[in-house]
Amino acid sequence: MSNEQQHSKRTGTDRRGFLTGGAALAAGALFSPANNQAQGSTQPAQGRPVPNQGEFPVKAISSANGREATRIAYELLTKGKDTLDACVAGVTVVENDPNDTSVGYGGLPNEEGVVELDSAVMHGPSHSCGGVASIRNIKNPAQVARLVMKTTDHVLLVGEGAKRFAIANGFKEENLLTERARKAWLRWKHSLSRSDDWVGEMGAEDPDITAAFNGRPTGTIHCAGINSSGDISCCTTTSGLAWKIPGRVGDSPIIGAGLFCDNDIGSCGSTGRGEANLKNLCSFAAVELMRNGMSPEEAGLEVLKRVADNTPDRLRDSNGRPNFGLNFYLLSKDGRHAGVTMWGPGRFAITDKDGTRHERSAALYERRAAPRR
Ligand code: GLY
Repeated sequence: MSNEQQHSKRTGTDRRGFLTGGAALAAGALFSPANNQAQGSTQPAQGRPVPNQGEFPVKAISSANGREATRIAYELLTKGKDTLDACVAGVTVVENDPNDTSVGYGGLPNEEGVVELDSAVMHGPSHSCGGVASIRNIKNPAQVARLVMKTTDHVLLVGEGAKRFAIANGFKEENLLTERARKAWLRWKHSLSRSDDWVGEMGAEDPDITAAFNGRPTGTIHCAGINSSGDISCCTTTSGLAWKIPGRVGDSPIIGAGLFCDNDIGSCGSTGRGEANLKNLCSFAAVELMRNGMSPEEAGLEVLKRVADNTPDRLRDSNGRPNFGLNFYLLSKDGRHAGVTMWGPGRFAITDKDGTRHERSAALYERRAAPRR
């Protein structure tokens, strides 16, 4: 039996992810319109043929803060490095950057001034994954997540256990709170109430602190890569929502929400308001929508519409639209890619044979007034 036949037997799909038998019925219940189309079709699942082995268009895509991450990931992909190792090497640079206040070292802290990080990785060729959540004092959670995937039978380690696991594996324990992040956190504390004992607007005169403070920032980096064999992997890493309640975990380390990858179909990952994504499991849904024939852009906009439909009134603007930001970055096996955003204009980073650049994300809504977060 060939590898392809073994895979089909195991997963109930053919090589292109075309659902067969009971698997098709089960998915049909979830995604009926597109799946009905696919069931009666002899076309590849995505409606477009995939390239021949060795001819897939090599590329790395990322959230807008990951230009350098995609450049590094692409370089490694073209040198034959494993797709996940390439993506992790890319995001490590951003985790180490004290000027990115949304990720790793320099990330904005929780409401007690402690930096807590979330990350997950997914390796397409082996369909394996790992994550860490609410980990403290470890600079590179994406590398720890990869180690959870590679060296344990678990998928997700959290808090103190995740930190001990990292230290046991040689990671250095260090303070991740930079002076800039500490001052932004103090500025936030001062801004909360006129009836507490924090007097004045500390740091208001400092434009750098004001830029870092900027309401309740949430940022993250997602990076995905495809090599010439068509193997796909991705990872997401973040310091999460600024000033969060200690222990709050967002979408980033949750497989199916912050990221998902199916080596036969494509990948999706997110940045933005994690709670909205968690309630809709958007990355998994987007990959399933691509399996059933949607392009990356169509799939990304469809999951954003679901989020908008399911948004509670307290999080809608005066026109009934979500008042928060949420973004997805999608790769498909046939070589297409897209970024989508709840509120445009938005952009994402990409490196491919044409170089490193930002491209525009497709927007569900165009911004007139800035969303709250
Ligand atoms: N998307 C990052 C977070 O909500 O934590």
